[in-house]
Amino acid sequence: MGRLKILNHPLIEHKMAKIRDKKTGTKDFREAVSEIGLLLTYEISRDFKTVPKTVETPLMETTAYVLEKPVVIVPILRAGLGMVDGIHRIIPQAKIGHVGLYRDEETLQPHEYFAKFPAEIKESTVLVVDPMLATGGSAAACITLLKRRGVTDIRFVGIVGCPEGVKFLQKEHPDVDIYLAAMDEGLNERGYIYPGLGDCGDRLFGTK
Ligand code: PRP
Ligand code: URA
Repeated sequence: MGRLKILNHPLIEHKMAKIRDKKTGTKDFREAVSEIGLLLTYEISRDFKTVPKTVETPLMETTAYVLEKPVVIVPILRAGLGMVDGIHRIIPQAKIGHVGLYRDEETLQPHEYFAKFPAEIKESTVLVVDPMLATGGSAAACITLLKRRGVTDIRFVGIVGCPEGVKFLQKEHPDVDIYLAAMDEGLNERGYIYPGLGDCGDRLFGTK
C-alpha cells in the first residue's frame, strides 16, 4: 500500500488558511499555491537518493553529492500548473511533462485531452502534481498513463485530499506514495471537497 503523508508544517498551515479563504483573490491565491508546492517538495525530497561527485572548490578537490536520478514534474492541467513554479524553484533542473484532464461535471469521470513528456521520463522520479484529490479519478488516470509509458518511480503531490480520493488512488496504484498538505472531511454531491477551497482551477486562473 502506498504511504499517505500529511505534511503539516506551520508555514504550510498559514498558507492553507489563505487559499481556503473565499476572500483571497487570484494573485494571492496563485502565489500561496505555488509556495505550498515548494514547501511540500522540500519535505517530499528528503529521501531522494544522492551519488558522490568529485568537484574542485577554489581550494581543492572534494566529494560532493548530487541527485542520483533526474526529476520530472507532471502537472495535471489546469490546476496542477499552479504548483509547478514553486516546485521548479527548488528543483530547477527538473523537466516538465503535461497531462490535460478535465472532469465531466455529471459523471465526475476524467477525460484526457493532452499528454506530452520529456524523453528521460522512464528513468526519472516523477512528481504528479494536482492541488485537489477529490474522487481520485484524475490522479489515477494520469498515473496509469505514465505507467503505460514505462515510468516506475511516481509520487503524487497534492494540497487538499479527502478519504474517498485517497482510498481510490491507493486501490488503483498501491505502489504510489501520496503527499498532501491537508486531509479534508469528504466530497459533496457535486464532487467538491469540503471544507476544501472551491474550484482550484477557476481560482488560479480567474475563470467562471
Ligand atoms: C479538478 C482538479 C483535479 C480534479 C480532481 O480539475 O484540478 O484535476 O478536478 O478531481 P478528481 O479527483 O475527482 O478527479 P478539473 O476537472 O475541474 O479541471 P481544471 O483543473 O481544468 O479546472
Ligand atoms: N476540483 C476542485 O477544483 N475542487 C474540488 O473541491 C474538487 C475538484
